[in-house]
Amino acid sequence: MKIFTDNKVAIHELELLFTACFLDLVEQDEEKFDENNGQSLREWFGIDELRDYLKHSRIIVAEEDGKLVGAAIVGKQNPLTWPDGKKCEVFNLGVLPEHRNKGLGSDLMEAVEKEAKLMGAKSIVLNVHELMTETQKFYEKLGYKRTGILRYYYENGSAVFFMKKLS
Ligand SMILES: CC(C)(COP(=O)(O)OP(=O)(O)OC[C@H]1O[C@@H](n2cnc3c(N)ncnc32)[C@H](O)[C@@H]1OP(=O)(O)O)[C@@H](O)C(=O)NCCC(=O)NCCS
Repeated sequence: MKIFTDNKVAIHELELLFTACFLDLVEQDEEKFDENNGQSLREWFGIDELRDYLKHSRIIVAEEDGKLVGAAIVGKQNPLTWPDGKKCEVFNLGVLPEHRNKGLGSDLMEAVEKEAKLMGAKSIVLNVHELMTETQKFYEKLGYKRTGILRYYYENGSAVFFMKKLS
């Protein structure tokens, strides 16, 4: 398995990857993420906005035998308020269902943190849907601390915010 920064990865490959990641979530949590509930997972995962994210972010990819099996997108949380805390945000993270639970998600997050430090960030922020409790535990295990809940942040529910200081 190779994990590296690759800002030239084809957008359609990233779309396929993240779509496979969220379709699996639909199966697991069908009633939590009802497509008719204001915001589809496709929207929520920013699949149609990937091109915009990529203008301002770095992409970490995990490849096995040349095939994309996981990816993370990290960038400045807000380029305009960057001097105010120098925070990077994880905009997207996904590992193909058949490659999960082998430490790949954690390895991608380690690479994200290294990349954020190279960008000059002092901390990383991210948010998770309040209903995605397993994913919240995943970030907590990696040392991310809850900083609060923003009610109605998403069209279909509240967001739990996490932060980790980079040393
Ligand atoms: C979150 C994700 C990237 C973790 O990838 P991974 O390669 O399995 O991560 P690791 O192997 O390093 O860690 C596995 C841990 O993640 C937990 N986990 C995270 N999300 C989970 C989910 N949706 N269902 C079940 N377990 C999940 C597992 O319980 C496991 O915990 P354990 O070590 O105590 O058993 C992967 O589950 C995924 O792609 N999920 C769908 C997309 C997503 O939710 N992205 C994050 C959006 S904020």
